[in-house]
Amino acid sequence: MAQSAATTHVPARDPYASATVKMLIYTSVFWLLLSMVLGLIVALKSINPDFLTGNRFLQTYLSYGRLRPVHVNTAVIGWMTSAFFGAMTYGVPALCKTKLWSEKLGMFTAVYWMLNYLFGAMAIAAGYQTGVEYAEMPLLFDIGVVICVASLWTNLFMTVKNRKERVLYVSLWYWLGSVTFLAIVYIVGNIPAGWMGPGMAQANYYYYYMHNIIGLWLTPVGVGLLYYLMPKLVDRPIYSHKLSLIGFWTIAAFYVWNGPHHLINGPIPLWLMKAGIIPSLLLLIPVWSVLANVIGTMKGVWYKVSENVSLKFLMTGALFYGLACIQGPFQALMGPHAILHYTYWTVGHAHMPLFGGFSLVLFSGIYYMFPRLTGRHLYSRAMMNWHYWLSVLGFVIFGFAMWTAGVIQGFEWMDGKQLGASFLQVMESLHVFLIGRAVGGSLMFLGQIFFAWNLIKSARSGKPIEQTEDPMLLAR
Ligand code: HEM
Ligand code: HEM
Repeated sequence: MAQSAATTHVPARDPYASATVKMLIYTSVFWLLLSMVLGLIVALKSINPDFLTGNRFLQTYLSYGRLRPVHVNTAVIGWMTSAFFGAMTYGVPALCKTKLWSEKLGMFTAVYWMLNYLFGAMAIAAGYQTGVEYAEMPLLFDIGVVICVASLWTNLFMTVKNRKERVLYVSLWYWLGSVTFLAIVYIVGNIPAGWMGPGMAQANYYYYYMHNIIGLWLTPVGVGLLYYLMPKLVDRPIYSHKLSLIGFWTIAAFYVWNGPHHLINGPIPLWLMKAGIIPSLLLLIPVWSVLANVIGTMKGVWYKVSENVSLKFLMTGALFYGLACIQGPFQALMGPHAILHYTYWTVGHAHMPLFGGFSLVLFSGIYYMFPRLTGRHLYSRAMMNWHYWLSVLGFVIFGFAMWTAGVIQGFEWMDGKQLGASFLQVMESLHVFLIGRAVGGSLMFLGQIFFAWNLIKSARSGKPIEQTEDPMLLAR
């Protein structure tokens, strides 16, 4: 069923703007800034390995090996996951036209989540980590994550159970699905290594986890937010509800099988590699269901993108998501993979959907929610535009630096086998691209300063929203 796009007016105090949502959104912006700073330090260290190594403390706690996982975890768990939790805690009650089932449970989730990640990240920086990518936090904090996800799950499902709106809008499917998948995937991925049998079996388990934290958590929760925001921002219903449900069920059916595509040309049986490649191609179905719905919904109203900065973020996010999902099946083929695997190409690919795609969708969502959370208009449209252009330009420089470096790196290694290019020669030829990554990353970071500053100014001195104002004016 299509969601009705606009209501008549927004009350100055939005009934769905709970303290839980505020807490999750505010802390997510803090993690965003921190992850960017850490990413930048890691990027500078890869240009100059002596950067920040002046004394023993720096050599230990700010070493590449420790900072890199803290950057990745802070970006994926601290920033994206907290912000998605906040968006769902706002969006689920709003779509159900009922209050959050338990505000107390919500606050418990938000506070526990924040402290759990804070201490988890400190543990990684102190060297207590599992060594499994995206699952580096020690077991104690994994238990914390599961408790928080379970409490969020309970709160969201109970809210849906008590709903006043009978129709289950498509975002609810995506959000309830993704939070359920998250619990399952996180538990599987964080079972201690010793319980998983020999190394090969462990690698398979972990890539099931690694792939699905992306495919069954970040992707459906992000697509759910895209479907939530689009009708609001363009003031018309989603083009096809049926298409969005095809997308949901095909994500659920195809994503789980993709883990082995991270181990192609690696130490797993050939049949298993192929079993990972086929669903990688089938993923084009859910991806195109989303893009077709975006194109269908936007037909005739593309001009609104130039008028509304939140919509500009949303559409650019959808575009980068689409591009990443064209890149993905290509690099999952055995030929391209043989060249691109273990190169900077993958780093460029990883940042495209995570930053260019779903972080942009989240920025759009936060700009949409913020006036409703604070009862104040956003402070500066110019700052929103600076945020947009610096983020997009920065990412394009970052991405192209990584993709070009990856192709050169892959071919040089192949040549190395035949012609003897030394490791050092390969690294020297990549230097300029690593500088490009740091330049792009600096612009991305600068963009987030505008974002955070605008939010702080809005909360403190944004114009108060009147009872009678049209909600469409709020979404700029
Ligand atoms: C049709 C869709 C997609 C396909 C077929 C695909 C395929 C792949 C493949 C084959 C790799 C492994 C590259 C290598 O190690 O050589 C990879 C890596 C990665 N992908 Fe995708 N991808 C898709 C979409 C996405 C999306 C939507 C996201 C994020 C939401 C994403 C995030 C990542 C990340 C973070 C990595 C790096 C993993 C690591 O740390 O090793 N991908 N992808
Ligand atoms: C919200 C924004 C961001 C997200 C979600 C994010 C996420 C990630 C992920 C998933 C990886 C692992 C990639 C892989 O293993 O293939 C990674 C690595 C990295 N990221 Fe980010 N990142 C973000 C912003 C940044 C920024 C602004 C910079 C600044 C330059 C940066 C620099 C790096 C570096 C240097 C690495 C290590 C790659 C390597 O080992 O060569 N990231 N990030």
